[in-house]
Amino acid sequence: MSERSAADEARIADLTCVVTGAASERGIGRGVALALAREGRPLALLDLDQAGLATAADAARTAGSPHVVTARVDVADEASVDAAVSAVEQEPGAPAIGALVCCAGIANPTPFLEMTSENFLRTLSINTLGTFHLAQRVLPGMLEQGLGRIVAMSSTAAQDGGGNFSTSAYAASKAGVEGLIRGLAKEVAGTGVTTAAIAPANIDTDIMGGRLEGERREEFVARTPVGRLGTTEELGELVSFLVGPHGGFTTGATYNLNGGLRVG
Ligand SMILES: NC(=O)c1ccc[n+]([C@@H]2O[C@H](COP(=O)([O-])OP(=O)(O)OC[C@H]3O[C@@H](n4cnc5c(N)ncnc54)[C@H](O)[C@@H]3O)[C@@H](O)[C@H]2O)c1
Repeated sequence: MSERSAADEARIADLTCVVTGAASERGIGRGVALALAREGRPLALLDLDQAGLATAADAARTAGSPHVVTARVDVADEASVDAAVSAVEQEPGAPAIGALVCCAGIANPTPFLEMTSENFLRTLSINTLGTFHLAQRVLPGMLEQGLGRIVAMSSTAAQDGGGNFSTSAYAASKAGVEGLIRGLAKEVAGTGVTTAAIAPANIDTDIMGGRLEGERREEFVARTPVGRLGTTEELGELVSFLVGPHGGFTTGATYNLNGGLRVG
């Protein structure tokens, strides 16, 4: 294998970052989109929620993204993913796809004995298979250009079984994301494509059955060693590094962003 040049990776800054799950107003995908927009990155924002996408696109343009395209997608549906990514690729003036950040996901608080196969599979279809669908669809273009970054949201639940709100199906779906990210890192090693998982916990969004307010918020804060909840801005800045010009020497790793809830 010939030696790759770190400087060559600066090209990533001009390529489009695809962010799934960007519609949720207080969500992680939105935080990621805004952090990347502040860096002047071209964006493709994907989500089920079309109205939320329009607001997200406006916010990203205002924050500094030079090119924002949106596409409705159901990440669980391979044909829908293919159509959405094709729309992004065919958008006039859109730079090629350089990065994928998978933030679309659902929680699942169902107790184990009440879980049906359908319920279990739905969680895996969105959280795990959704990541696979997106990564498989964008990878050929990244391999062709010899440069790409794939980042996916796992969860502390993958490591400790969860219990904050979600239960076993969610933990299994996120453990699957981490395995996929590690396996893919090895399969594409040396091609210029790198991968990463982020395992957050206690980020202040609405995924845990609604807003964290009042006593429930106090409980979450009390359980978080650093003494507060995390922000989507902090998560966005971590992604910004991973998909930026200096993020190319890390691959296959899981980054914990959990306020010390689980260390190691
Ligand atoms: N907030 C946290 O503390 C936390 C902790 C661990 C992991 N995560 C993970 O981070 C990711 C984002 O979570 P969040 O807190 O921003 O949640 P959120 O509910 O605010 O946002 C999730 C987004 O995903 C979209 N979505 C759901 N199903 C979809 C589908 N089938 N196709 C396309 N889009 C779909 C929703 O429309 C929404 O915009 C999720 O994968 C979640 O599991 C969050």
